[in-house]
Amino acid sequence: MQKPCLKEAKVRTNSVVKTRDYHIDDSLKTLGKNKKYFIRTYGCQMNEHDTENIKAILEDMSFTETDEMENADLILLNTCAIRENAHNKVFGMIGRIKHLKETKPNIIAGICGCMAQEEVVVDEILNKYNWLNLVFGTHNIDNLPNLLQKVYAGEKQIEVYSIEGDITENMPAKRDSKYKAWVNIMYGCDKFCTYCIVPYTRGKQRSRTMNDIIKEVMDLKSQGYKEVTLLGQNVNAYGKDLDADYDMSDLLEAVAETGIERVRFITSHPWDFTDKMIDVIKNHDNVMPYIHLPLQSGSDRILKLMGRRYTKESYLKLFNKLKEIPNVSITTDIIVGFPGETREDFEETLDVVNTCKYDSAFTFIFSSREGTPAAKMKDDISLKEKEDRLHELNVLVNKYAKEANDKYLNKEVLVLLEGKSNKGDNLMGYTETMKLVNVKASEEYLGQIVKVKITEVKTWSMDGVIVK
Ligand code: 5AD
Ligand code: SF4
Repeated sequence: MQKPCLKEAKVRTNSVVKTRDYHIDDSLKTLGKNKKYFIRTYGCQMNEHDTENIKAILEDMSFTETDEMENADLILLNTCAIRENAHNKVFGMIGRIKHLKETKPNIIAGICGCMAQEEVVVDEILNKYNWLNLVFGTHNIDNLPNLLQKVYAGEKQIEVYSIEGDITENMPAKRDSKYKAWVNIMYGCDKFCTYCIVPYTRGKQRSRTMNDIIKEVMDLKSQGYKEVTLLGQNVNAYGKDLDADYDMSDLLEAVAETGIERVRFITSHPWDFTDKMIDVIKNHDNVMPYIHLPLQSGSDRILKLMGRRYTKESYLKLFNKLKEIPNVSITTDIIVGFPGETREDFEETLDVVNTCKYDSAFTFIFSSREGTPAAKMKDDISLKEKEDRLHELNVLVNKYAKEANDKYLNKEVLVLLEGKSNKGDNLMGYTETMKLVNVKASEEYLGQIVKVKITEVKTWSMDGVIVK
């Protein structure tokens, strides 16, 4: 048994990160024959992409996918630790699985992802949910075949490493889309914002080499992919951990020069956003004018307590530079009710929202995560007050989101049609600026980038028709 350890997860070493190739023994390739797997994913795009890897590994072992948990022989929950509610949802699901296991005792059930990296969670599992067969973390996804072999031989497996290991290249992926793909450019995060659990669950920052990334993008392009999103917790710091003479702006430029039709990247930390990066976005039509720039708070006092390393003023300065990118859309993340946030602090946040008029924002109530510095800070604001602030903020955010969308009415935009819309027989896709559009079009247009005239605008989506 290898349990996670919070103390170890905090450590950052100078150890050189090595790269290894994904490998699965031939003897494991039939282990899943006639068995079905069900996997549920919580959390961010990083987790979604991990699930794509896990699915491909399972299919390499001859498992087949089912959408119905009740039909599965193997159930995995790829979990998120970022806020208490993600955590609670997972424990709710574990309850449902227990129920299922009472009638079908042969089901193998396990959890992986960020919650599996938390010492408190694994302790709770060992105490209360000891019937779970498998727990593995974010650093050893590629070892899943060996773990499953042992599980099927009757041994419960708990294998979570708190210190990140090597980077595994050439992991297979069963991608959700045929047209757009996630591409990891780095793992982990060294920013240690005081509220955030990610540096503990995802380990130290490790960048992939530019060569490996470009190879993956070229490969995706040759398979017909139209869009890649470069993924990292803090993409602007890409390369800083490598002994290399390139940074994020060089990488972005190199990816743009592959000629793939659309390039996106998430998430940016304001601290590392360079002018060179802005130039690359401006100078390449295939780098999409869409930037997610988390604000978290507009109050300098709270930003300092959060360990964000910028001020309201420097954030706004960067924001204004980014606004010079033609047609750019900018979204953000905001936390309300951080420990000690006063009404005045909150009003500073509202002030930034009123100034930036974001295209959209993800807003959250602060959630205390065990082991982070903020969890020890005095938090004397009532939940009611926090909920009221969230509501007040959301009203403002929605107003500006609608205003931003209104500007699109009767305009022509390019949309990559990627799937069927929930509404009628339409297709759906995103503009270059990441606006969701429902388009009247038949399925033959799937996977194409088409010119669309916007006919109706709502707060979170638009409707349009194809123009020739
Ligand atoms: N509580 C609330 N929101 C959080 N986020 C990260 N950690 C917490 C937390 N402890 C939010 C931040 C981040 C987004 C992914 O989740 O806004 O940008
Ligand atoms: Fe993603 Fe962070 Fe949630 Fe982990 S904790 S799944 S990295 S959002």
